[in-house]
Amino acid sequence: MFSFFTLVFVTVVGLWIHAMRKHGTPRDAEHARRLHNRWIIGGGILLPLISVTAILTFGIPAGQRIQLLDPDDAPLVVEAIAHQWWWEFRYPDLEITTANHLVLPVGRTIEIRGSSPDVIHAFWIPRLGGKIDLVPGRINSRRLKATSTGSMRGQCAEFCGTGHAHMIFEVDVLQAADFERWQHARQQPVEVAEQDRAAAAAFKSHCGQCHTITGVTNGSGGPELTDVGARRLIGAGLNRGRQLTVREWLTDHPRALEIGLARDDHQQPPDQLTRIAAWLETLGHD
Ligand code: CUA
Repeated sequence: MFSFFTLVFVTVVGLWIHAMRKHGTPRDAEHARRLHNRWIIGGGILLPLISVTAILTFGIPAGQRIQLLDPDDAPLVVEAIAHQWWWEFRYPDLEITTANHLVLPVGRTIEIRGSSPDVIHAFWIPRLGGKIDLVPGRINSRRLKATSTGSMRGQCAEFCGTGHAHMIFEVDVLQAADFERWQHARQQPVEVAEQDRAAAAAFKSHCGQCHTITGVTNGSGGPELTDVGARRLIGAGLNRGRQLTVREWLTDHPRALEIGLARDDHQQPPDQLTRIAAWLETLGHD
């Protein structure tokens, strides 16, 4: 763009200087008419015709590429709900909810329906295309399709407060069979082993209001935790560059509270906190 507009600028300035230098008036009426016509045909017809054709030659294919993907091929719907400051992803057809972790099947059209209950955020997976503004009171959708498997990073792309920089999420694009395996594993209720009964009971009474663990609690407001032990991100992006365990997250809460990443101090007797954390660490591992 810079080189193209430099070219346009130089050309316009050149013509301008040329016009200023060229003194003299038309020799006669006939000459004036010819000059006049030359400008109309050259500047009014040929120039726009050539430039518009050139722009459309590039623009039409580009427009096709950014159009919505085929509306007929039954997309997988994912609701992306941006909170201050974490991500909630719901798969309404699969009855799965995750936090800060988006799992997608490769080669399938995904319809992201983005919303926000608090302030304006923006959904962005740089490797999968453009941003979607998430505006309170609105649902903005966009279709995307991953063409190869792998892990990538998503990021909130609209400044939304002190926790904005931490508002990242992990994306895993899986083969269809692996996605199905993940889906089935995630739909199973968590079975609490004998040795974890006390921890699960404590979790139920202290954390169950806000957090859901399939088969154990049904809370709302806080991140879903059914597979929290297997997640690479805890506390959204707070652990960037370093693996944060659930226990560290729970005991290091003053820091999270300070920057607003946590809503609650999760105050509990230390041994109980450790017990709950140890149990949460096992979730999501088969
Ligand atoms: Cu959410 Cu920035």
